[in-house]
Amino acid sequence: MTEREPIGVIGAGYVGLVTAAGFAELGSEAWCVDVDAEKISRLRAGESPLYEPGLQELLEKHSERMHFSTALADALEHTRLLFVAVGTPPTHSGDADLSSVYEVVESLPAGDSAADRAIVMKSTVPCGTGESIKRAFKESGRERLAYVSCPEFLKEGSAVADFLHPDRVVIGDDRDAAGEAVLELYRPLLAREHGGSASGALVRTDIASAEMIKLASNAFLATKISFINEIANVCEETGADVVEVARGMGLDERIGPKFLHAGLGYGGSCFTKDVSALKLLAGNSGYHFQLLAAVIEVNELQKRRVVARLQRHLGTLAGKRVALLGLAFKPNTDDMRGASSLVLAARLQAEGAHVRAYDPVAQEQARALMPTLEYVSSALEALAGADAAVLVTEWPELLALDWREVAATMSGNLLVDGRNALDRAALEAAGLLYEGIGRGAPPRAGDAHARAEQQGERARDSVSVRAAGAGA
Ligand code: UGA
Repeated sequence: MTEREPIGVIGAGYVGLVTAAGFAELGSEAWCVDVDAEKISRLRAGESPLYEPGLQELLEKHSERMHFSTALADALEHTRLLFVAVGTPPTHSGDADLSSVYEVVESLPAGDSAADRAIVMKSTVPCGTGESIKRAFKESGRERLAYVSCPEFLKEGSAVADFLHPDRVVIGDDRDAAGEAVLELYRPLLAREHGGSASGALVRTDIASAEMIKLASNAFLATKISFINEIANVCEETGADVVEVARGMGLDERIGPKFLHAGLGYGGSCFTKDVSALKLLAGNSGYHFQLLAAVIEVNELQKRRVVARLQRHLGTLAGKRVALLGLAFKPNTDDMRGASSLVLAARLQAEGAHVRAYDPVAQEQARALMPTLEYVSSALEALAGADAAVLVTEWPELLALDWREVAATMSGNLLVDGRNALDRAALEAAGLLYEGIGRGAPPRAGDAHARAEQQGERARDSVSVRAAGAGA
């Protein structure tokens, strides 16, 4: 293997760690820095601080190439390219908080020691941040530092696979050596026309456009989800089945089948944060982004609609036992940020329901955020004596429950499939009352076929985790 550029990575969260491990897999030495000393000591001991399929394996495989430290100086000593992957959480105003980004900028070397160095922005930042940082470089004698925007599109739960098999790699730069160096790092993941042997497309563009590509992509995906959720709500009024509708829509190549799964709304730290950040970014420059205001509102309401549905069946929820199956914002992650379960559980408790919850992986993270729920160690335990249950996160383990056993252990029979992921016929055969989201039509002979197709589609939404393990 030819000598690969070593990289520094600031911030050992999902994006930072996967970037470091991914480039280590491609042959680079990676110097990873984080202010969290506990996280760094776990990483030094070879342990991933995150639940992310394939990551632990890469950390073990590349323990020689991956270095962890709390001192930026360690990364600066060994690398020229510093990938910045620190958090940009929303401030009280909803704008992105760039203080961690600027802390990194301010600790970079000035004068001649800045020569040949670059920061490569992986954190999601408002459009215009690159310009501001370059201005800050100039004002602080760091004008020899280069700036590259290289947004990340990985999804939690399939982050390693997404990194190693990207649809596209976006590099925003000033057509300088730093941009070339980043391109060189990504070359093995790119398609033949860009000198690679994989399938990733390359978008080499200016910095502001690269920043906007990231924000617009997340906002568009969130819009797609809110759109299908609104269609689902209309389906409930009209007797149509949103799964059928999404299937019929998705076969149009211009629409595509992905991100058309109706449910309890999108969660996670990214969509919630980035949609609101883009809306405010537009507002700050005098433009009212009406569409995104609706996307956000639809998503908020979508998490709450289930409460009314439970009330329709059970009457008052005071004193009723409701089981929540799954708590994480999506399967294959222990991340609870922005999870629909947070809103749903709080609303159920406010109505006086007793909420018993189970998640195969995110239980401890959930307990820290929602200490007043009752947590149990299996789905069946959560369902024991329940008047109703809601599938919140479509973990494979929950989809494979024995529905006869479920029906026998519950007091009531209502099961709300908050992700349209369950086998309606199997639940009904077991004597359960199935309610999906937007599944207005009664079950028909073709139902099993539509569901099987949709489940296949969900699986294809994330590249197979096994592919991640195999690496590049
Ligand atoms: C999202 C984007 O998909 C990534 O491309 C991006 O890099 C990432 O944000 C980021 O900015 O860091 P992620 O938040 O990990 O990734 O999760 P997604 O798989 O996009 O799911 C987000 C939420 O939407 C989940 O709660 C999921 O259940 C929900 N969802 C997704 C739906 O309700 N319906 C769908 O059809 C798809």
